Amino acid sequence: MTYEIIKELTTTKKDKTPDHQLGFGKRFTDHMFSMDYEEGKGWHNAKITEYKPIELSPAATVLHYGQAVFEGLKAYATEAGEILLFRPDQNFKRLNRSNERLCIPAIDEEFALYALKELLQIDRDWVPTSEGTSLYIRPFIIATEPYLGVSPAKNYKFMIIMSPVGSYYAEGINPIKILVEQHYVRAVAGGTGEAKAGGNYASSLKGSELANAQGYAQTLWLDGKEHQYVEEVGSMNIFFKIAGKVITPALNGSILAGITRDSMINVLKSKNIPVEERKIAFLEIVEAANNGTLEEVFGTGTAAVISPVGYLKWSDGAIDVNNGQIGEVTQMLYDTLTGIQYGKLEDTFGWTIKL
Ligand code: COI
Repeated sequence: MTYEIIKELTTTKKDKTPDHQLGFGKRFTDHMFSMDYEEGKGWHNAKITEYKPIELSPAATVLHYGQAVFEGLKAYATEAGEILLFRPDQNFKRLNRSNERLCIPAIDEEFALYALKELLQIDRDWVPTSEGTSLYIRPFIIATEPYLGVSPAKNYKFMIIMSPVGSYYAEGINPIKILVEQHYVRAVAGGTGEAKAGGNYASSLKGSELANAQGYAQTLWLDGKEHQYVEEVGSMNIFFKIAGKVITPALNGSILAGITRDSMINVLKSKNIPVEERKIAFLEIVEAANNGTLEEVFGTGTAAVISPVGYLKWSDGAIDVNNGQIGEVTQMLYDTLTGIQYGKLEDTFGWTIKL
């Protein structure tokens, strides 16, 4: 790790939104981190500056061909006034896996974490303290070379911005309604579904819009080939509890390898609750609902935390899950995850790091 961070800090402090009005991703802290890449020179020019617009050529590759990747993680304020990060090393590892898939040069993961901590230290008073709030951290990389030919860019910008947030869903921890998307798909085997690439989210918008217009919070995506197997929900991985066993789709190349997903699998194992990662046909869920063995459905994600699903709708019917109530295992996972993240429970997994 040989980079130096130039700090050009601002003395102008923005007004903070009251915690209860936060919502998700609309307000940003006073500062941001940025670093540039140039072919032959590598990553350089690491800076923490005032949060402000960036200058970009209208020909920048990212604007035309979508060569962009991102991450999402959070900083949590504990009652004792400390700030905790949850598995941030995993986010920078995954960012490099996304980089690899989109032909973006790798970043130094150790330096990225150091830079994040420096930024967080400067804006630490932006970490909200009310229950259910946190500081959402968005590292991302975009291709900046002004070039209209289709090839990996020679210039990039790596940035970290931060946003104080409340709940991702208006429902909070109350069960959400999901529409199963049977026409559009989010990703295909061999595509970029496994990468945290902006384009995956762009292709999900149409299905989400249709779902939202009908009153559903999110779309449940099926596989891109047979439109039969469960993949993930808009911004979350998905889990089902059937006859005492928790199942989640196995990572197959088109599903995002969620860090919350992995953490919850580990929590379930530690509590001796059977958990399986495998291919899941949507019909299996319908059958389980029909024979009364579908007990709980929930999503996991950094932004969404643990989100119970109370209702699933598809073209031929609908399923009420657990009478629209949060299930026992879902609640336990929510309490365990947030307990560790906010420093209320002992972190026996070694997942949190203190700022
Ligand atoms: C996250 O959970 O951090 C995500 O990346 C979802 C986001 C697209 C809101």
